[in-house]
Amino acid sequence: MNIQSSALDVGAFDPFDLNKPHALWEQFRKEAPIFYHEASGYWVVTRYDDCKAIFDDWKTFSSENAQKPMRPMCDAGRKILHDGGFTAYSGLTARVPPEHTRIRKIAQGCFGPRRFKSIEPQIEDIVARHLDQLEDAGKTGGPVNFWEIVAYPVPAYVLFTLMGIPDEDVPKIKQYGGSRGKMTWSDLSDEEQIPVAHDMVAYWKYIYNLLDMRRDNPGDDFPSDLLRLQSEGADISIEEIAGVLYSTLFAGHETTSTFMGNYVMAMMHNRDAWDAIKADHSLIPGAVEEMLRYMPSVVGWRRKARNAITVGGVDLPAGAEVLMITGSANRDEAQYKNGEALDITRKNARTHMSFGYGIHYCLGFQLAKMEAQVLLRQLAERFPNLRLSGGFEAQYLRNISFRVPTSVMVEWN
Ligand code: HEM
Repeated sequence: MNIQSSALDVGAFDPFDLNKPHALWEQFRKEAPIFYHEASGYWVVTRYDDCKAIFDDWKTFSSENAQKPMRPMCDAGRKILHDGGFTAYSGLTARVPPEHTRIRKIAQGCFGPRRFKSIEPQIEDIVARHLDQLEDAGKTGGPVNFWEIVAYPVPAYVLFTLMGIPDEDVPKIKQYGGSRGKMTWSDLSDEEQIPVAHDMVAYWKYIYNLLDMRRDNPGDDFPSDLLRLQSEGADISIEEIAGVLYSTLFAGHETTSTFMGNYVMAMMHNRDAWDAIKADHSLIPGAVEEMLRYMPSVVGWRRKARNAITVGGVDLPAGAEVLMITGSANRDEAQYKNGEALDITRKNARTHMSFGYGIHYCLGFQLAKMEAQVLLRQLAERFPNLRLSGGFEAQYLRNISFRVPTSVMVEWN
């Protein structure tokens, strides 16, 4: 059976437009929970149980398309990538077992919660330093861009502490990360793809240079650990190590920046929750979990059906490319009572799908939550009167997966 709604024009759906998607997603969940979207070629899935079933059945639903560019690189861009020696595709997310299992086990060994916990004092410092800058910028009383001053840089400084990357390289890697996000999950024109292709070549070279430096000069960091394990016999090639770094140097900060931008807006629109957090910091871990459900950075993720299969009563053909709208699943009434509302005391918030689900579940989830908690506490302590500046309305970049605001204008005086 194919569920298509006559009242709903699913063909008019623009999956790249993440400006105000929630009302439409809700309508999809009710009237067309799974539908084929002609323009993108993807089967769109919006209900919680269906997304979970797909994530869970990794034998049928392979992640091989998770990093596939939504719009293939134009000829000129492909030439730039080829001539520049760019061969990266995916570290982990688009790899499938048994390769994925082998590499993930090695990466997980060097990137566990103990390592994350050990840098908590640095996280406190990095956040404090950027909130000082926010305070300075706001001295004139005018609106300031929280996105640019705090959310955008903080996760990069944190991640690069683990990566052994010097602070002066942060702007460069942030730029590469932005290009990476656009290349894979946006619908760039041919012209827009050219600078992105140049960035990808530079990014890939940077990773190989980093590995060369760490080979000559090992440190207490993630690249050095991977190289050491390899030299001790771990079954991972240099190309695979470079791939893991290529993934992590993107996944480890872009996602968290976006989350910080989104959750500050969620807080500002929900003053009761903000007041409750200010009065009782013990609410913060639960609040972060709920904000991951309610305003996540990743709202869509992809899988490909290896064989024909029925999901939620809908027949998908072999080879079907599936776009799970996890941002919609996260608000499904069948899973979350009053799912369209933010409730920082919600008991089952942590069942959200913002870190995916199953064998590819995000490797950095503890770090992301730790950073979010530190920032929220320091913000509540230092900027109790924080609010979005008058008339500010968020605009989001065009993307099928990452809901990235272009700015978050705040004031507090
Ligand atoms: C709010 C922040 C973050 C969000 C929303 C997020 C989201 C995700 C999602 C949706 C996936 C795919 C899961 C799947 O296919 O089931 C993923 C995988 C991954 N994430 Fe994150 N992530 C975040 C932060 C981080 C951080 C801080 C790191 C590293 C320090 C990280 C490293 C990874 C890696 C390496 C994978 C690949 C895992 C695999 O395929 O086995 N992420 N993340």
